[in-house]
Amino acid sequence: MTHLVNNLVIENLSLDHINELYKIEEESNPTPWKKETFLQVLENRTLSFVLKKNSTIIGFCIASKLLDECHLQNISVEKAHRTKGIGTYILEILKERAKLFSTKAIFLEVRESNISAINFYKKHEFKEIGKRNNYYKLKIGREDALLMQLLLK
Ligand SMILES: CC(C)(COP(=O)(O)OP(=O)(O)OC[C@H]1O[C@@H](n2cnc3c(N)ncnc32)[C@H](O)[C@@H]1OP(=O)(O)O)[C@@H](O)C(=O)NCCC(=O)NCCS
Repeated sequence: MTHLVNNLVIENLSLDHINELYKIEEESNPTPWKKETFLQVLENRTLSFVLKKNSTIIGFCIASKLLDECHLQNISVEKAHRTKGIGTYILEILKERAKLFSTKAIFLEVRESNISAINFYKKHEFKEIGKRNNYYKLKIGREDALLMQLLLK
């Protein structure tokens, strides 16, 4: 892991990042966030950041804080860099930042068909605590979301 993170730079989310983020989002999400949604989250960016390698964004985390809870709204790693520990690195940074802001838990919703993300979260000790029916749009129809929670120690 050390060799992997040596050349990586973390930057707080800013307007300059949005176009590159949108490219990653388009290849990652069957119903991608609109650019306007990224612009809205800029307003609450304490827990949002990007990861760059050689000046190029290879992953990002968008999360917000409400009272003592963190809501992980989006996490994504550029396709060519997946399954090399980058997602884990991003999550570890989020956990540390969330703790700094006295957050007790991280919540998220994930598509029930998104097996790689569900495995990823379970590997990191998130627990399934509920379901939101028809939460996500599909190209045709809708899909349930699993609600997952990680208690921070
Ligand atoms: C989920 C995501 C962020 C994980 O990032 P990553 O850098 O690949 O994750 P890491 O390399 O740190 O962790 C790998 C672990 O994730 C899970 N995982 C990742 N890809 C997987 C796949 N294709 N199939 C099954 N499990 C997978 C496994 O638990 C794996 O651990 P293992 O190698 O011991 O089996 C990445 O797959 C991604 O960007 N997906 C598209 C966007 C997305 O779905 N985001 C979540 C929205 S809720």
